[in-house]
Amino acid sequence: MTIAVIPGDGIGPEVVPEAVATLEELGLGLRFEVLDKINAAAYLATGVPMSEEDFAVCTGSAGVLLGAIGDPRVRDPWYARDVLLRLRFELDLYVNHRPVALLHDRLSPLRDPGRRAVDCAIVRENTEGLYAGIGGVLRAETNDEVTIDTEVNTRLGVARIIDFALSVATRSVCMVDKSNAVPRGGGLWQRCWAEARARRPDLATSHLYVDAAAMALVRDPTAFDVIVTNNSYGDILSDLVAELAGGVSTAASANLNPGTGRGLYEPVHGSAPDIAGRGVANPVGAIASAALMLRQLGHPEHARAVEDAIRAAVARERCTPDLGGRLSTAEAGAAIRAELR
Ligand code: IPM
Ligand code: MG
Repeated sequence: MTIAVIPGDGIGPEVVPEAVATLEELGLGLRFEVLDKINAAAYLATGVPMSEEDFAVCTGSAGVLLGAIGDPRVRDPWYARDVLLRLRFELDLYVNHRPVALLHDRLSPLRDPGRRAVDCAIVRENTEGLYAGIGGVLRAETNDEVTIDTEVNTRLGVARIIDFALSVATRSVCMVDKSNAVPRGGGLWQRCWAEARARRPDLATSHLYVDAAAMALVRDPTAFDVIVTNNSYGDILSDLVAELAGGVSTAASANLNPGTGRGLYEPVHGSAPDIAGRGVANPVGAIASAALMLRQLGHPEHARAVEDAIRAAVARERCTPDLGGRLSTAEAGAAIRAELR
């Protein structure tokens, strides 16, 4: 099995080698093809965000492991679109699965101990909504400028993400929308939700508007199992829950198409240019994303072993300073691999 590896920008090239080394430690015989021309430096030199050859490597691989895309030298928003959103859209990775569990008690910002043990997942629609890129500009760069970004919601897109959420939940699913203010797309989400939840009477189901969901998540995140929502609300709520569980540097994500089996796996944190190149970036998000990949590739026991090793290393404060440790990126990665052995 070949894994395409895109270290990307910022701290991506620091954290991704730790994830690759962790996968190699397991001795599963995975082959890695590192695509080192998909980054801002290459883009600034050549004007090409991702070559067709590199795109073909991604489509031909069993999974794509990505660090981060984004660099302050590139102001053009099409750069991230032409790499990350292109992979999500063209591989039809319609699920963005972002599970979150508190790594260690000391990492929770919540005072009440009974409310700290976050263990939930944001299931984010990943190929439409406000990210569809439908819109236009009128009278560009004048005082009368008008810009329009259209939110796209399709019956197929909404129904399939709700089905995925129901398929991975063990306790409950909460559907989050803003149908009180955004009636057309919201109405479609409501109708798809009513049909889908009726088919799963065994699961507890609920609905919240996104503003109320943000409040409820901070008040008591332990009340949630799976939250299913659109592309934009999923982007925001996944950062919120990541922070409740120990910080966004620990959060993992899987961009999936359960039908084709394709997947792109990336830490939620982004390129963090302010700390890039200093060896202080936390590799937990990247290594946890590699664990999500192992689960999709049919190695659930190895995935669990990596997740347990992360927890064990964090419990012993064998981690980077943002989690209360003193280790560098490479040392923190090695500490997780030491727990694996
Ligand atoms: C994420 C990121 C991306 C998104 C950005 C980098 C385009 O914030 O994966 O959550 O908004 O989807
Ligand atoms: Mg985000």
